[in-house]
Amino acid sequence: MLHTAYRSIVGRLPVSVKAPLKRMALTIVGSPSVPPQLTEPTNPPPVDLVKSRIEFAESYFQYARLEIPRWAHHSRENDNFTYDLTEQSLDYLAATVSTVTGAEIDIIRSYLEEPEADLSDYLCPRAAALPIDKPTSFGRRLGWYAIARAMKPRVTIETGVHFGLGSVLLCSALRRNAGEGYAGKYYGTDINPDAGVLLAEPLNQYGKILYGDSIASLRGIDETIDLFINDSDHSAEYEGQEYGLVESRLSPKAIVLGDNSHVTNELFKFSARTGRHFLFFKENPKDHWYPGAGIGISFPRD
Ligand SMILES: C[S@@+](CC[C@H](N)C(=O)[O-])C[C@H]1O[C@@H](n2cnc3c(N)ncnc32)[C@H](O)[C@@H]1O
Repeated sequence: MLHTAYRSIVGRLPVSVKAPLKRMALTIVGSPSVPPQLTEPTNPPPVDLVKSRIEFAESYFQYARLEIPRWAHHSRENDNFTYDLTEQSLDYLAATVSTVTGAEIDIIRSYLEEPEADLSDYLCPRAAALPIDKPTSFGRRLGWYAIARAMKPRVTIETGVHFGLGSVLLCSALRRNAGEGYAGKYYGTDINPDAGVLLAEPLNQYGKILYGDSIASLRGIDETIDLFINDSDHSAEYEGQEYGLVESRLSPKAIVLGDNSHVTNELFKFSARTGRHFLFFKENPKDHWYPGAGIGISFPRD
């Protein structure tokens, strides 16, 4: 009704007056599910065409919709979902990591296969008591792993660890790297004192979790950082603060990953300001309604 009233009153005004009024009106009533039309279409499409258009558009979402009841009835997860990536998404992830690190794509593909083999026996019993459906279905985190394997970081930081799926994966990469002669250590940060329960012997030999606000924890790490992953407080302001804080401590080869880049452009802005490349990998979950997030990747220019 508000939109009908808006159209009848504002519709007659010139555009220069109408546009700011429209912006103001939307801040009050919120964006409608059907955008308001300032003028009625002169030739409205026939009803059959409208119906077939709706069917066509909805067909794009049908597969995801079918997954919703399965998740609603059977999943133990309400957030931080676990899922595999589609084959195509894995191909694109391998190509993205190869581009960023300069490593051959076949090497990256072999890295992407390591976690399942290395971590099934470790993770499945430990995750059994937690609300995690598929503990070895790491989704986009596989990209974090492959980057850690390819670049052999000496210091890796992940802000926001939750149960510790990323911690386990990154420490597992450091264990493999150490076996190849490249030592490295991991710091995770989390404000929740119960976070990181999955990081245990023997993987906790490669890193530890710092409890408390991430910004405070980052201030206490006085080391040069090779790999930084932001995944804590997902507000744009907090994310930007984290990047600003680590900026002066990044090594020349450092890679910064953002788990929030599908929502904010903070890592994009950080990359532009510091003269770094920026890429975004969009993940595509397999057999899950969740449309997927992605990996923002900030890396040095040669
Ligand atoms: C999306 S989860 C992290 C997921 C994790 N990286 C993984 O791989 O599964 C976000 C985490 O950030 C933590 N967090 C939120 N605000 C924080 C803050 N200000 N400082 C530190 N951790 C924070 C939450 O407790 C939560 O565990």
